[in-house]
Amino acid sequence: MLTDKKVLITGASSGIGRAIAEALLTEGAEVIGLCRSVENLPPGVTPLSCDLSEPDQIATAFSSLDHLDILINNAGLAYLSPISTGDPEKWKSMWQINVHALGLCSQQALKLFPPSGGHILNISSLSGHRVPPTGGFYAATKFAVRAMTEALRSELKLVNSATRISSISPGFVDTPLLDHYFAGREDQLAQTRAEVNMLTPQNIAATALHILSAPPGVEINDVLLRSSDQAV
Ligand SMILES: NC(=O)c1ccc[n+]([C@@H]2O[C@H](COP(=O)([O-])OP(=O)(O)OC[C@H]3O[C@@H](n4cnc5c(N)ncnc54)[C@H](OP(=O)(O)O)[C@@H]3O)[C@@H](O)[C@H]2O)c1
Repeated sequence: MLTDKKVLITGASSGIGRAIAEALLTEGAEVIGLCRSVENLPPGVTPLSCDLSEPDQIATAFSSLDHLDILINNAGLAYLSPISTGDPEKWKSMWQINVHALGLCSQQALKLFPPSGGHILNISSLSGHRVPPTGGFYAATKFAVRAMTEALRSELKLVNSATRISSISPGFVDTPLLDHYFAGREDQLAQTRAEVNMLTPQNIAATALHILSAPPGVEINDVLLRSSDQAV
């Protein structure tokens, strides 16, 4: 069902995005990986170099495409940055990548989808559903992703668009993102890894394939995915 579909994935150079790119390649999709470190993209992925914090670069990157079937908004940043004491520069970085760039890429992709409709898949987070004590500004960005997903779905229905929109909201997934989130708290990361058998990027990729392979007319809205031993 995904054979020859043209898919753009942001952040395909690491973690979840990389695993989704690899899974899509095995399904016969044409995969474009948008990121900064294009040298880290999996073999077979077409590189699209872009810094998502630069709106001009996003516009230029998408202008090189003639059409698109699927956009996966996956790139994201996670820092421990409380509302009360966090560094506002970290808030800004997270907002730019997790929220603003996701909106800009979605606008660009909508212009490239066929009349029969495309599909946008947003990689959100469990932190877009509940706020853990350390959620801080990261959780705020993921609540924003959830709101944007719902807002766009409503907008598309208003114009009878056939484009589908979905999201995946994972709990802990063992990727390099956790090293940034737990920076300076490596003992807590080690303890969390000992207590929680974390999800793998491949678990998220399998869910992405399920969502993107849904029959026409079926829109899987949000899949909330936790390791079975993640308590909160
Ligand atoms: N890991 C978890 O526990 C977890 C849980 C729930 C949700 N998520 C979400 O899953 C998504 C993927 O996270 P991950 O864990 O796979 O993280 P990761 O391994 O750190 O990968 C992040 C990706 O984002 C890209 N990126 C970051 N800043 C960018 C920029 N300015 N321009 C272009 N690309 C940029 C990176 O590419 P370059 O550095 O090459 O640019 C990289 O490919 C994120 O949205 C995250 O919030 C993760």
